[in-house]
Amino acid sequence: MPRTIDNLMKMFTSGSESNVRYMGFAEAADKEGHANAAKIFRAVSMAKMFHALSHFRATNLLDTTMENLKQALEEETYDYKNAYPSMVQDAVTEDALKGRHSLEYGMSIGPIITKLISKAIGNPDANEDSSYYICPVCGNIEFGKPPGKCPFCGVDAMDFVEVS
Ligand SMILES: [Fe+2]
Repeated sequence: MPRTIDNLMKMFTSGSESNVRYMGFAEAADKEGHANAAKIFRAVSMAKMFHALSHFRATNLLDTTMENLKQALEEETYDYKNAYPSMVQDAVTEDALKGRHSLEYGMSIGPIITKLISKAIGNPDANEDSSYYICPVCGNIEFGKPPGKCPFCGVDAMDFVEVS
């Protein structure tokens, strides 16, 4: 059993990474005008996501919602307070502008993410009838209605993705 749990976690990690990487490959294929290849990458990406989710479920590491919220709060707090700052500094030192922007977006949205999770810890059932809107560039999360433009990256509200 321990080997199976270890194997499930390895493929969960690998599948999660492939899920996102293939979405990146799909964007690149679209930019090159290869619509079918892009569609295949999106399909495979989704299959990898379902595999990863299945592997994660099979590990029995899912807990109660309250414990999952506490775990997410701890992870997300660590990321923006401890992981991102030195990474942003590395990007500044190396003059890696695109990397710096991407890492800064991740760090900047951290407090918004942790605030949302903290609210859910206080009341997991609040706001069930309203949607969240996610900025596709910086990951900013707005509740109820997106602003005209993202306050972090300037993306138009029309581009936000609704999560209901
Ligand atoms: Fe944004």
